Order: sequence, then structure tokens, then C-alpha cells
Amino acid sequence: MSAKEEIDKLTEELKVYQDKYYKEGISLISDNEYDRLTDRLIELEKEYPEFQHPDSPTKRVGSDLTNDFPEVRHTIPVLSLDKAYSDEAVLDFFSKSIQKEGGALSFAAEEKIDGISMVLYYEKGILVRAVTRGNGEVGNDVTPNIMTMPSVPLSLPESLDIAVRGEVYLEKADFERLNAAESDESKRAANPRNLAAGTVRRQKSSEACRVPLTIYCYEGFWNDKTQTPPDHIHILSKLKALGFRINPHLAFFDSDKEKAREKLASAGLDGDAYAFSEIDEFIKKKTAERKTLPYEIDGLVFKINELDVREKFGYTEHHPRWAIAYKFEAPQAETELLSITIQVGRTGRITPVAEIAPTKLGGSTIRRATLHNQEYIDELELAIGDIVSVSKRGDVIPAVESVIEKNDKGNTTFVLPSECPCCHTKIVQIGGLQYCPNYDCPDQVKGRIAYFASTDQMDIETLGPRTVELLYNAGILESIEDIYSADYSAAADLPGIGEKSIKLLEKGIKESLTRPFTTVLSSLGVADIGKKSAELLVRNGFDSIDKILDAADRGDPDSFASIPGFGEITGKRIVEAFSSDRLRATIEALRKAGLHMDSSLDREENAEEQTFSGQVWCITGSFKNFNPRSKALKEIEKRGGRTVSSVTSKTTHLLAGEGGGSKRADAERLGVRIVSEDEFMAMLGTKDDGEKHEDGQLFLF
Ligand code: IVH
Repeated sequence: MSAKEEIDKLTEELKVYQDKYYKEGISLISDNEYDRLTDRLIELEKEYPEFQHPDSPTKRVGSDLTNDFPEVRHTIPVLSLDKAYSDEAVLDFFSKSIQKEGGALSFAAEEKIDGISMVLYYEKGILVRAVTRGNGEVGNDVTPNIMTMPSVPLSLPESLDIAVRGEVYLEKADFERLNAAESDESKRAANPRNLAAGTVRRQKSSEACRVPLTIYCYEGFWNDKTQTPPDHIHILSKLKALGFRINPHLAFFDSDKEKAREKLASAGLDGDAYAFSEIDEFIKKKTAERKTLPYEIDGLVFKINELDVREKFGYTEHHPRWAIAYKFEAPQAETELLSITIQVGRTGRITPVAEIAPTKLGGSTIRRATLHNQEYIDELELAIGDIVSVSKRGDVIPAVESVIEKNDKGNTTFVLPSECPCCHTKIVQIGGLQYCPNYDCPDQVKGRIAYFASTDQMDIETLGPRTVELLYNAGILESIEDIYSADYSAAADLPGIGEKSIKLLEKGIKESLTRPFTTVLSSLGVADIGKKSAELLVRNGFDSIDKILDAADRGDPDSFASIPGFGEITGKRIVEAFSSDRLRATIEALRKAGLHMDSSLDREENAEEQTFSGQVWCITGSFKNFNPRSKALKEIEKRGGRTVSSVTSKTTHLLAGEGGGSKRADAERLGVRIVSEDEFMAMLGTKDDGEKHEDGQLFLF
């Protein structure tokens, strides 16, 4: 037998023994015999390295050669996840995603294993590289160490080019055992993750091999997109079939439980099915289960199941827009309370805000935290100068959680002023909250105008809070209705506003005239009428402002209260709000200005010809007329086009602005039509009117 033949034979044989042992715990031969064969193969491979198989079973035992972990570039995006700290925030992620997609979505929920992020690259079914996350673009090649892990397939049953993401970790019991056996106390690791991280970077794979690391895989990226399974759960089941270790503690969320169950079953996966509404129950269950798991988890990961939607949503610079990590522990920091300022919102609500000594919290520096109301301050017995703990629990807005140390200056519990800090009207108490009752309070007026013009409402691009403040102070803009009748020429003299900016503002205002009735309705700032309830009103027959005003005139709260989700109190409040002369005057002025006060007006103006139907657009670079770039995407979608975040063979057009990176090269390579901004404007049927700001920013400042 030639050396090559002997290597081939031993490789084949040992692979069978290893598989049987690692997968089923069965030893087909004695340990001695196994060691003898392995030693022989190692010897032969040393002498004839050219005959060594890339997935040789000797990789499992590691070598004494020194690893140098060269840096290599990832070929898939290796980003981390956006975080949430409450079940509301997860639910919010569900509903915002569904809203953005404008259709049904389902979500997979996985345990967030606290280990080391790893990408396994396979070429033609052979493991060629195992790379740490690194900075997301470049990581360390730790292949020899990862190859010693029995749970990592060295070769696959199919000749695939794929990248698989997973978490390398160490079970708690193994960590305890190994740490206890370490006589040198200074060498003991603080937790399983640290020991796993150290092992992954051990210089000798023969040593790494002694730590029983394992892996759970959770994402797969097929080089040939046409081979990609249809959705996330099918990816998981395919990975499982290929021999990867998949965490069986999978949960699946859909609009109802039955649907969720069916989808899981369609992928042949076990797992728990949930309806969206059961999110708090799920999080409670997992929080309790956490301690009993054999490995450490620091949260739960929620991922959109539909891959085409993932592609459409794409990535920010730091994380995918299609997934979120719920973390069990909210980041906390300790800092000093310097002072408390009082904010007056657009509804008159008074909110005390803690001004704190700047501190780092969950990756950003914070200077302010909410204190909710007087009751909250009383509960904490909070005084200026106290050392407090702040956290990012429920919201993105940090909150003061507790007092760590009382101040030594003799300051006592803070008491809200009795007057509105803005207009000096006496503050009133409504159900535990404080309000300024003056409708004309400047802070409220400015708040109402800014809310009306905000992106989520009428979306008058240039009219942000700072511009509102400036125009209000100059006496140019004193109410919502003023937006449509004000003489902005006087604003040209204001510092920071030039003629160009005014033109832009006027253009934004003009564009806002086409917003649908539901948007106009929710922008009025009536308590209880946000986007959702405005839509509910319209769907339940209140499809014009006159119908709402009529019901208010009749003093008929029941016609609102009977709408599912509204109730008696809301009904009464709507009647009360629309009976106000002030609001009615605003409505009449807006009607005169040409805003949609009837949803029948919406359809005629909004229907764009579907000139982009069947087309798939990708976008790169920055634009003069579309800032943020999502504006261009909206235009494409309005005309029936589909938008994607990367150029593939299915992409039909690349809209290329200034700058832009590799997408242009991809488009050229794939023969995708590249469209310039000017061409695009022509395709939209909009001429560039030259009214853009020099730096392409559509802001006044
Ligand atoms: S998905 C683009 N799923 O958590 C895909 N990550 O902060 C993003 N992690 O770096 C990752 N368990 O190392 C995903 N089931 C899981 C995970 C998981 C642990 C880690 C991963 C990632 C970090 C995100």
C-alpha cells in the first residue's frame, strides 16, 4: 500500500470511529487501538503533508505547533444586535417591523448564549476557516483550535459553500470542574465565557482540545443564494441536517399560536409556539428557566423569520434591522444628581428630568434621565447631590432607579414647583401626574407644532423643534395653522436661516398637503388619537373630520366608545377634545389650507402609476434630493418597485449617488443597470428644481 493509500484508508476508518463516538457515544474499538491508528496517521501526515485530508480526523486531537491566529476578512456581515430591556420593547420591535413591512411576519426566538461568536466557513463542504467576530469586518483565524471541537463538522454531507455563525461556549459544570482543578489561583477564569475565550486563543491546539468547548449554530449564509432555504427555521433545520449543533430551546412567534405551531412543524423542528401577545409570559418563563440551564445565557434573540424581509430591512452600521436581543440585565451606572429641570410637553404634562454627571451607559454617554413625576421622586426620596443608579430598562430613555448614597449637603427631597416654569400658570394634578393647564403656554404650543411637523406625523422635513423654537420666538409661527399661512420671508433675517432654507421649508409644507386624512387626524395632537387609533376611527366609519365633529356636536361618546379598543373614557375624551373651539378653529384653518379632512381625498392624489413594477432596486451613496436615502426607497416602492439592501443577480437597478462602495462594482460585475440621481429624477417624472442645500442636508441648521 502506498503512503497515500494508507493515509486515505486511516482517514476513512478513524472518521467512522470518531463519528460513532462523538455522535452516539459508542466506541467501536479499544482506546489503545484508536490511539495507535491516530499516531500512525499523524506520523504519515507529517511525512507526506501533501496527502493530508483537509478534514483529517487528526485535527480533532490538535497539534503542538504554535498558532498565530492571522487576521482574516469576513465575507458575511458579522454584526452584533440592537438591544431591548423590556417585553414592551420586544413587542414594539414586532409591531414596528410588521408595520414597516406592511404585512404579516413571524419571529424566531432563541437563547442568547453567553460565549464566543464564531464564523465557520465551508468551501465545497470542507471546513476551511473558523474566524472570531473581531471588529465585525476582520477577525482572527482560530481554525486549528476550533477543529478540535467534536461538535464542529470538519466536512459536510453536501459539497456546499456556506458560512455558519454560532456561539462557542463551555457548560457551567465543565467550567467549575476545570477551574477547581487549576491550582494556580491567578490562572482561574472569572466565568465560563472567559475560559472559552482563552481556550479559543490557546497557542497549542493540543491544549485547547482538553477544554470541552461546544457550539450552538444559529445563522447560515449560502454563497449560492438560490440554495438558501426559504426562511430562518428552514435554515436551522437544514443546518441540523448538515450535522451542526442547533439549540433545541427554540420558540416561534406568530399572530396566533396555531400558525406558529404549523410553521415550526413545516420545518420539522421542535419548539414552543407563541402568539405575539404572549411575549411577557415567554420572557418570564425564560427568565426563570435561565438558572437551570447547563450553560449561561444573557438574553433572548428575536429574529424575523422571512429572509426576503431581512434583506429588505438590511443593516445599520452596527446591527441588523431584522433582529433584537432582549437582555436580562439592563445596563446600570452610578452617578451624581446635579439638578432637576422641568419639561413641559405638548399636552401640558410636566416631567421632572434629572440632570446627572455625565456617565457611560450601554455604550453611550448620558447626561439626563427621566424622573416621571412627583410621586416617583417621593418614593425615591430623591434630593439634589444624591448618588443615584441609572438604567436603560424599559425605554431607550434612561431612568433613575434608586438612591445609592444620600448627599451630605443636607438637601431634602425635591419638590416640583407649583407654577409652570414656562408660563407661570398654577400646575394642576390629574391622576398622579402634573399638568400646566394653559393651552397657550409657549412650551405647549411649540411642542404641538413640532409634533404636527414631525417625521411620524405630517413629516415637514425642515420643521424640527429647533426651527419651531426660532420661528415661534420671532413671532412668525404661533400655532399649527400658522404653518400654512405664515409669511416666512421675515425669517430670512434670522440667524441660521437663509433664503434657500426658506424655499426648502415652503416646499416641505406644500408636500405635506398631500398627507392622508389619518395622518392629519393623528397630527392634531388630541390625547388618545395616535396613528393607530386614527386608523381605527376611519375604519369604523369616521372617515372624515365632519363625521367626528358631528358626533362631538351630538355629545355622543358611545359612537367612539363602541370601537374595539377604545372604551368609555376614550369616547368621552374624544368628544371633549373635538368640542373645543380652539381645536375647531385649527381644523377649519387647516381645511381651508387644503389638508385632507376626508379620506376620500387620499386615494386620488396618492395613486402613483406603477412604473417600477417588477423591478428590484438597490441603492448606494448619498443624494442631493433624497435625505435620508430612505426617501428614494419610498419613491421606488410607491411605484411598485421592490427594494433590497445588496446587489444580487436578481437586482435590476442600482441607484448610485455620490460616494458609495462595493455595490457599484457588484452591479458592474452582474450587469445590473446603474442609474444616476439625475436619471432617477427623470424616471420619477420630477425635475430637479435646484432647491437643494449645498451639503445635501435638508435642515435649516
Ligand atoms: S444572531 C446577524 N443568535 O450575541 C446575526 N446571536 O449581540 C446576529 N449570540 O455577536 C447574531 N446567541 O455572538 C444570534 N441565538 C443567537 C445568539 C447570538 C448568542 C451572540 C452573538 C452576537 C451577539 C449579539
